[in-house]
Formats: sequence, structure tokens, C-alpha cells
Amino acid sequence: MENPLHGLAVRGVTKRFHRTKRTKNKLRVYQKIINFFKREKEIIRAVDDISLEVGIGEIYGILGANGSGKSTLIRLISTLLLPDTGSIHVFGDDVVTHSLKVRRVMNRVSVEASFFKRLSSTENLIYAARLYGIPAPEAKRKAQQILERLGFDADRMDEEMEHLSRGMQQKVAIARALLTTPMLLLLDEPTTGLDPKSKRDVQAFIEDIRQERNAVIVLTTHDMVEAEKLCDKIAIIDNGRFIAEGTVEELIANTPSENGDPATLEDVFIALTGKQIEEEA
Ligand SMILES: Nc1ncnc2c1ncn2[C@@H]1O[C@H](COP(=O)(O)OP(=O)(O)OP(=O)(O)O)[C@@H](O)[C@H]1O
Ligand SMILES: [Mg+2]
Repeated sequence: MENPLHGLAVRGVTKRFHRTKRTKNKLRVYQKIINFFKREKEIIRAVDDISLEVGIGEIYGILGANGSGKSTLIRLISTLLLPDTGSIHVFGDDVVTHSLKVRRVMNRVSVEASFFKRLSSTENLIYAARLYGIPAPEAKRKAQQILERLGFDADRMDEEMEHLSRGMQQKVAIARALLTTPMLLLLDEPTTGLDPKSKRDVQAFIEDIRQERNAVIVLTTHDMVEAEKLCDKIAIIDNGRFIAEGTVEELIANTPSENGDPATLEDVFIALTGKQIEEEA
């Protein structure tokens, strides 16, 4: 048993994926069959020997470009994927051997959240709450209260979800994760694709949650300003590896400034990865 005071402890975790190299399609069937057996497999390390610790009441940010391994790491922590090597403990429990127990104390929000599209936001949230044994009237009250705090238009809470914009659906996904009281909250790009006002609403809400619930929060983002504003500690991930970790001040202090001006988090990111980080349109 790991120390339960470490809300989350990830130690030396690696996850590889096999990717089949595709050949061009204009081949005869028998050639395709031969190729199928001779096919070359490429191994990618989506998460490569990553370790981290997050304490109770902390927000830990993971900053990385597209394809750097953020979602894979979040899926490993949330028991959706099994690590090839290394271990992950949530409040002292191993996520592989105690997955059911661990799932009860955590929730994940991601852009690929799925809903009953023909039901309204309120109905979807009541349904989710009922799975956790929360009675419908209480669930409804709570759902509407959270949606309101997220700046979700009250008039649209009873509209079918398929008519809502992606940003609005994202807010419903965040509300769903917070209906119960997760002790570990995994937020995979919670604000990507939101307009500036919605972004601020969601960020303010995340800060409130940290204060109110003393939860352990892991957040992935492409947004430097968001990372700087919300996170106690930030890791920069590139090709599956953590290439730097620390508070914003520590990261900046370790990066020499180019022109005499103090470095920004963006300078740190570019200096370390050689990449510009860009949010998907
Ligand atoms: N199930 C899978 N099978 C094969 N390869 C995968 C799988 N899931 C992820 N990958 C690969 O692992 C790498 C990391 O992907 P991941 O989704 O973790 O990146 P990400 O940092 O979340 O990117 P984004 O910012 O675009 O969400 C990518 O090269 C991706 O193609
Ligand atoms: Mg991702």
C-alpha cells in the first residue's frame, strides 16, 4: 500500500501502442494478403516512463502539443488502459488491482464524453446521478445549480442535447463529473474549444472546486495562460516523456531569457520542445 496522503502517485509508467504501417491501396487481393502477414509494426511509446505525485488540494497541469500523450496518461490513471510497466496509486490503492474501488473516487472529463443525444442536459444529468444512487429531485437541483455556475443558459437545460453546441455539451460533461463528489478529478482539456467567457466560467469553477472540496485535480491543456492561472505544478510532456516539471516560477527560472526580458511559460515550452503549442481550431 502506498501512502494514501499522496492523492495520486504515478511511478515509471509506460504505455506502448503498436501501429501497423499501411501500404497504398492499389494492390491485388493476394498482394494485400501477403502484406497482411508481412506487415511491419511500428511501436510508439505514447507514455514513456512517467512519474508524478499530486497532493490533496493540488491542481497538477500537464502541458503538451497534439499527440504528446496527455490523454493516454489520463486514461491510464482512470483505469481505461492498463500500463505496460510502472504503477499508479490513487489514495494508496493500486489502479490495476483495485480498479473498482479507485473508480468510485474519481471522475474523468474529456472531449469525447457521450450522452443520450435525444435527452436534455437535465435528463442526462439525472440519469447519471441515479447511477450513483442520488435521488432524482436532489440530482435535478444539483445539476441545475452546477450548470448555472458554469454559465450554462438556464433556458436551454431542457433542450435535447443534440441541439447544443460542443462548448455547451462540454459544460454538461463537467457538471456530470461533479454531481458526485469525486476525490480525484481528471480533466482532459476541459476548456479546449470554449469561447473566452465560457473558458473563464469553467476555470473559475475549477478553482472553486479545489477550494471547496479539497480534491486532487489533474488537468491537461494546450493553454499556457490556463496552466499558469490554475496549476500549482506543471509538467511539460513531449513524445510521451515529461521533459520538465515544477511550479511556473521554477520552470521559468530554469530557462534563460532570449532578449533580456523575463521568460514566459510559452518561452519555456518552445525552448524545451522546439515546438509552438497550438490549440486545435
Ligand atoms: N489506442 C491507440 N492505438 C494506437 N495509438 C494510439 C492510441 N491512442 C493514442 N495513440 C497514439 O499515442 C500518441 C499519444 O496520443 P494521445 O491521444 O495521448 O495524445 P494527446 O496529447 O492527448 O493529444 P491531443 O492534444 O491531440 O489530445 C499519439 O501518437 C496517438 O496516435
Ligand atoms: Mg488528448
